Amino acid sequence: MQNSYDLIADKWHANVRDDSYVRRVLRYVDRILEGLPTGAKVLDLGCSTGNPIAKHVVQRGYRLTGVDQSQRMLEIAQREVPEAEFIHADMVEVDLQDRFAAAIAWDSAFHVARKYHSALYQKLAQALQPEGKLLLSVGGTDPGDFSSSESDAEGFTSEMHGHTFFYSGYEPGVARKLIESAGFEIELWEVDASSRGHIAVIARRLP
Ligand SMILES: C[S@@+](CC[C@H](N)C(=O)[O-])C[C@H]1O[C@@H](n2cnc3c(N)ncnc32)[C@H](O)[C@@H]1O
Repeated sequence: MQNSYDLIADKWHANVRDDSYVRRVLRYVDRILEGLPTGAKVLDLGCSTGNPIAKHVVQRGYRLTGVDQSQRMLEIAQREVPEAEFIHADMVEVDLQDRFAAAIAWDSAFHVARKYHSALYQKLAQALQPEGKLLLSVGGTDPGDFSSSESDAEGFTSEMHGHTFFYSGYEPGVARKLIESAGFEIELWEVDASSRGHIAVIARRLP
């Protein structure tokens, strides 16, 4: 199974991310790790090359399971974060046997057609222990690309490194309801002005 990320994995890896972006993301990650005992299990859906998130989680003493549908991204991740376990799978279909103390789906679920988002949030709730924290991002590139109706087009495409990528998402109010209906209480809902409609979400899995 080759996808667009396989075609850009080396460029993605070589591309040095802006320091302030990395600091901001890792600050969110640290919030969901707060208070967890060393060795607690953390899930990262759409982990890509493992950098910076998986690497940071492992460096903080946690056990990380990363899931990604790009084989090439995972080859780099295995090299970058050899302590982590990686699963090559579609996050919609992956069968997660473990229970996790925290879970992340950062800038990845927006590549999944929105008709699967509700099931994805439920899968994350099932994968988490009660009180487990979830970090995810909702939306992606432009508020105008969100839609609130099931009958609208599934999503849109955009170019990156000369290749086409698919994005999908609901209007933020709908996404929020779906996350809550899956069994989460929202603790943080923060619009990131620098990325046009992208929302950082931290949620607690209700007992
Ligand atoms: C924008 S990238 C990077 C996300 C990464 N969490 C980060 O912040 O660096 C999105 C990643 O999600 C993965 N991805 C996209 N759709 C996926 C799916 N349905 N299942 C698993 N991984 C997926 C891609 O292969 C890619 O590695």
